Amino acid sequence: MRNKITIVGAGFVGATTAHWLASRELGDIVLLDIPQTDTMPKGKALDLMEAGPVLGYDTRVTGTTDYADTANSDVVVVTAGMARKPGMTREDLVGINQKIITDVANNIANHAPNAIVIVVTNPLDTMTYMAYKILSAKGFPSNRVVGQAGVLDSARMRTFMAMEFNCSVDNTHAFVLGGHGDEMVPLVRYSTIAGIPLPDLVKMGWTTQERIDAIVQRTRSGGAEIVNLLKTGSAYYAPGASVAEMVEAILKDKKLIRPCAALLEGQYGLSDMYFGVPVVLGRNGVEKIIEVELNEAEAAMMKKSADLVRGSMSALKF
Ligand code: APR
Repeated sequence: MRNKITIVGAGFVGATTAHWLASRELGDIVLLDIPQTDTMPKGKALDLMEAGPVLGYDTRVTGTTDYADTANSDVVVVTAGMARKPGMTREDLVGINQKIITDVANNIANHAPNAIVIVVTNPLDTMTYMAYKILSAKGFPSNRVVGQAGVLDSARMRTFMAMEFNCSVDNTHAFVLGGHGDEMVPLVRYSTIAGIPLPDLVKMGWTTQERIDAIVQRTRSGGAEIVNLLKTGSAYYAPGASVAEMVEAILKDKKLIRPCAALLEGQYGLSDMYFGVPVVLGRNGVEKIIEVELNEAEAAMMKKSADLVRGSMSALKF
């Protein structure tokens, strides 16, 4: 039996996620959007299937506006929502996207009650919390609702690290925790080149503290950098690839350790919120939350980031 992966929102992030997933043959894909988009999801789905013979994948891709087609999905990826425009913060989107997430989560609960749900819609931590609120009321445990952010933010930091050290991205490891916003927490001490922590590379004279600080800053504004370059809309290639990695980890039960937005219940001194922390991803979704030791400065950054997420959450209307 093939796995079934539904992507809600057939826009830039949704379609790009479908593209990466199809090429990895991780399962059959359902690409869903709202009725107002008419046959658009069908068009993208057929186009993706027609790439199959060239690339050698047998993935079935279905485009639809009917949730009946998503029945019994193993994984549902939520990219439905409005994307940021230049000058707009992720928090500006709360009101608009809360309505969308509420509609989507109710439909997922009704049609794919056993799915693991990955939320991508921004503001990420707040929208994942919102989805959890709806889904948990319908029986979803918190391990089956997770937000994508840390995989992308860490990928951005790894890109900048590979550029700085002129090395393979395979040699890079980064942990970017906290909320998916300007106060995210790139953990320099836990970020390495071939296992060598960044502070040691400063001591070795391979780089300077100023250049590490610049990498941290560029990571934090990584989303805005793309928004400002694109002029219309926000990033989608790297976000899509990041979701695909999470889907693969879940469906193959890889026990992959990555930072993701997970429900915190006391970890890192925080409760009743979704926040970026290292987790183990496997067939049961978030199988474990890892609490790494933080020094005073790192803990202060986490607190600042959590305060920002709480501020965004306070814009939710129940
Ligand atoms: N149900 C399903 N799909 C919806 C709904 C809904 N209730 N409301 C809107 N959509 C669809 C839109 O019709 C559109 O096709 O979501 C899609 C969003 O696509 P884009 O506008 O291209 O946005 P995108 O760049 O894909 O970003 C989507 O991901 O990274 C985040 O910040 C980003 O929140 C944004 C989301």
